[in-house]
Amino acid sequence: MALFSKDLGIDLGTSFIRIAEGGETLLEEPTIVAIAVDERMIVEVGQAAQNMYGRVSEMIEVTRPMQNGVVAYYEITEKLLGHLIRKVSGPLRIFRPRIMITVPYGITSVETRAVHEAALGAGSREAYLIQQPLAAALGADLPIGTPSGNMVVSLGGGCSQAAVIAMNSIVAAETLRAGGKELDEAIIAYVRKKYGLIIAQPTAEQIKLAIGAAIPQDEDKSIEVQGQDQVTGLPHPLVLTTTEVVEAVQDVLRDIVETVRRVLEKTPPELVSDTIDRGIALCGGSALLPGMEKLMTKELGIPTYLVDAPTTCIAEGASRALDILPTLQRSLPNVY
Ligand SMILES: Nc1ncnc2c1ncn2[C@@H]1O[C@H](COP(=O)(O)OP(=O)(O)OP(=O)(O)O)[C@@H](O)[C@H]1O
Ligand SMILES: [Mg+2]
Repeated sequence: MALFSKDLGIDLGTSFIRIAEGGETLLEEPTIVAIAVDERMIVEVGQAAQNMYGRVSEMIEVTRPMQNGVVAYYEITEKLLGHLIRKVSGPLRIFRPRIMITVPYGITSVETRAVHEAALGAGSREAYLIQQPLAAALGADLPIGTPSGNMVVSLGGGCSQAAVIAMNSIVAAETLRAGGKELDEAIIAYVRKKYGLIIAQPTAEQIKLAIGAAIPQDEDKSIEVQGQDQVTGLPHPLVLTTTEVVEAVQDVLRDIVETVRRVLEKTPPELVSDTIDRGIALCGGSALLPGMEKLMTKELGIPTYLVDAPTTCIAEGASRALDILPTLQRSLPNVY
């Protein structure tokens, strides 16, 4: 039986779910579900569900079941997990996998239990939880089993986490319930205030991905999008530049940097000095915002670098955690 059943690492994120096995990513899908309102049946999940957004009748609801790193719609999350687990492991009647699933650092016991129960309900044989910074560090191959300190900062779609890890456990950490979505919202607010135009979240994200940056760039790019006039409701074209986006996202970025700073303040001095020597490992989709490492390096005075697989290292680390379960077990969150 063990020969056929899989060991899966699952990174249950606000924006994306990623599933890995043996340190390799098998699947990456947006955390989105399309549901038939009447029967509460899943119509599509992941990318296919995202493609339906804004294009289907009222009979179908397109939902994001995770918000700011935690389960917002339990039943839908469980169904989504079940669907994707079956996609990578075949019919669960025969091969029920063991799962290591991630949770953000510092969430409540109720929020933790929701993830554990969703993982069990989705058809796993056994489900373990791991805090995302620890999974990220494993995925990025940091020497976390040693007594010296390793700092990981993960900037996702709905939350930002910073942690110092030594001897396989988290020494100091914090989670800010803000991430890429809050950067998008900051762009929406900026455009509304400066131009009196309304743009939707997908447009704000498109702007961020096309021309966004954390600090001013040598090349000031621009993009034209369609907004909607706040007063008349009529469509109106709008050209935004990189400089404007940098300005729009500054407050959110300051909150993120302050979160990292607070973790450093709580960390014992010897471990801070290790962190200065080794640098801060940056991961998560929002870490890809151009200039993010430079901003952190400048603001914190500690060299910051992007890890090799910034978006997939968390799922990959979670899958590796199953191989060293006895070593880690003490460090994993309990489910009450
Ligand atoms: N090149 C890029 N520049 C800026 N932001 C980006 C880039 N690529 C992806 N993102 C942003 O990264 C976010 C998604 O990151 P990630 O996949 O790490 O999130 P997640 O794990 O689902 O969320 P969380 O960990 O917060 O629950 C989105 O907000 C997306 O807009
Ligand atoms: Mg994440």
